[in-house]
Amino acid sequence: MKSDWVIREAQVEHIEPMIQFWKGIEGVGLGRSDEPASLEIMLKNNSSSCLIAWHGDNIVGTILGGFDGRRGMIYHLAVLPQWRRRKLGQSLLERCLGILKERGAVKVNLFVYPHNSQAIAFYESLGWIPRSDIQAYSWDYAAEL
Ligand SMILES: CC(C)(COP(=O)(O)OP(=O)(O)OC[C@H]1O[C@@H](n2cnc3c(N)ncnc32)[C@H](O)[C@@H]1OP(=O)(O)O)[C@@H](O)C(=O)NCCC(=O)NCCS
Repeated sequence: MKSDWVIREAQVEHIEPMIQFWKGIEGVGLGRSDEPASLEIMLKNNSSSCLIAWHGDNIVGTILGGFDGRRGMIYHLAVLPQWRRRKLGQSLLERCLGILKERGAVKVNLFVYPHNSQAIAFYESLGWIPRSDIQAYSWDYAAEL
């Protein structure tokens, strides 16, 4: 199996290239938290669990793993289309999960759009359990009067 990538911690100087990478990937939702200043905080607070897969100088995959002291959270797992189905997504996720566990997370959560059938198939093939027992809520500061 072809796996000629190397996975390294994301650095602040990789923020702009990561944003460009995500813009080209269907299924990655970009929002206000993907402004460079927000991503810089994310990387500084989670330096070991935000990872990039490189093929030479090219980004071929990413994952952002966050830990708040209770739960781990996965964001922006993405693999370049022509690099899919080679276990790169699985490699990124397993590496990130291992780091989050070392950091103290006892459970890790993530959000998937219900129409994202490939991501759902991916996570469920790896044993992730869809939650039907909870309803997710958000507070949006931009919506405050
Ligand atoms: C989801 C994603 C990261 C998977 O990356 P990947 O590198 O192709 O995944 P892997 O090769 O590690 O797949 C591992 C297993 O997951 C399952 N799987 C992955 N993609 C699948 C698909 N499109 N359909 C069905 N099963 C799939 C398979 O069982 C696969 O093993 P197999 O290839 O031996 O059958 C990739 O499709 C992607 O970047 N999607 C767009 C971004 C996205 O939606 N991210 C998730 C946001 S929540």
